[in-house]
Amino acid sequence: MDDLDGVVAEALEVFAAAGDPASLEQSKARYLGKAGRLTEALKSLGKLDPAERREAGARINAAKEQIEGALAARRDALMEAELEARLRGEAVDVTLPGRMRARGSVHPVIRTWRRVEDIFRSIGFAVADGPEIETDWYNFTALNQPENHPARSMHDTFYVEGGLLLRTHTSPMQVRYARTHEPPIKVIAPGRTYRVDSDATHSPMFHQVEGLWIDENISFADLKGVYTDFLRRFFETDQLDVRFRPSFFPFTEPSAEIDMAFSSGPLKGRWLEISGSGQVHPQVIRNFGLDPERHIGFAFGSGLERLTMLRYGVGDLRLFFEGDVRFLEQFA
Ligand code: DAH
Repeated sequence: MDDLDGVVAEALEVFAAAGDPASLEQSKARYLGKAGRLTEALKSLGKLDPAERREAGARINAAKEQIEGALAARRDALMEAELEARLRGEAVDVTLPGRMRARGSVHPVIRTWRRVEDIFRSIGFAVADGPEIETDWYNFTALNQPENHPARSMHDTFYVEGGLLLRTHTSPMQVRYARTHEPPIKVIAPGRTYRVDSDATHSPMFHQVEGLWIDENISFADLKGVYTDFLRRFFETDQLDVRFRPSFFPFTEPSAEIDMAFSSGPLKGRWLEISGSGQVHPQVIRNFGLDPERHIGFAFGSGLERLTMLRYGVGDLRLFFEGDVRFLEQFA
């Protein structure tokens, strides 16, 4: 019993050395547990005579209180430290810059597609959409290109089971639209097209926009007016010239290649092929289900990649399909 002060001193030291709540609770048992040193001391009181017992009991209780007090204080300190460490770990530095989400942007060819739609809508054209998997009849025969027609060889494509094919141009949309709408017909049909072709200016998948205007007295003059106006608005300049160069397409007669030249800027004076066009062939008008004696009109088909390349000065068509962000983000 005489070493009570020693026991208290030891307990204080052991508690101070406990680095976390678990080891603190463990060391508590050594002093206050069932077989702890103070508990043992209390049990031994019974062997003393009453006078001594009183005095010793008071001393033991004082020691017990001291140890309990030290234990509680250490417990609080450890919990506080733990809380502080956690708060420090979870601290948010509100001054750090945010982690930005990468933002996508509209692909340059789709941007062209949308602008073409806006321009033609503004002059009263409807916008139509049709299947990329097409029948041989719509893609070729209805456009006056029967089987074995030599012009088909320029349109080698991908054949799908069941006599279907991936359309080689948007021209079948002329027929699809005209067979389901009454004249006057004024429509564009932008979309994806396919050919077995691949180099710096050709890709197996590309985009075209078809145009068709059918009424009772539509002439080449209207085509020239509409198309020149379109180009000036698309390129946002009046500094360009347009010419029609005789050409051949089975579905138009006469046919023309539309060329344009800028009269200023880096491409100044160079004639650039921009579109096929022509007066719709009487046989095609018949395939529309219309009478060529009464209905007449023009059509054109332009490449959206080509328009995009000229507008932004892109030299290689393949850049559009490689998905290189360094290229694409220039259009964001
Ligand atoms: N479909 C033709 C092609 O892809 C382009 C074309 C030429 C469309 C003349 C037309 C047109 O509507 O009248 O080569």
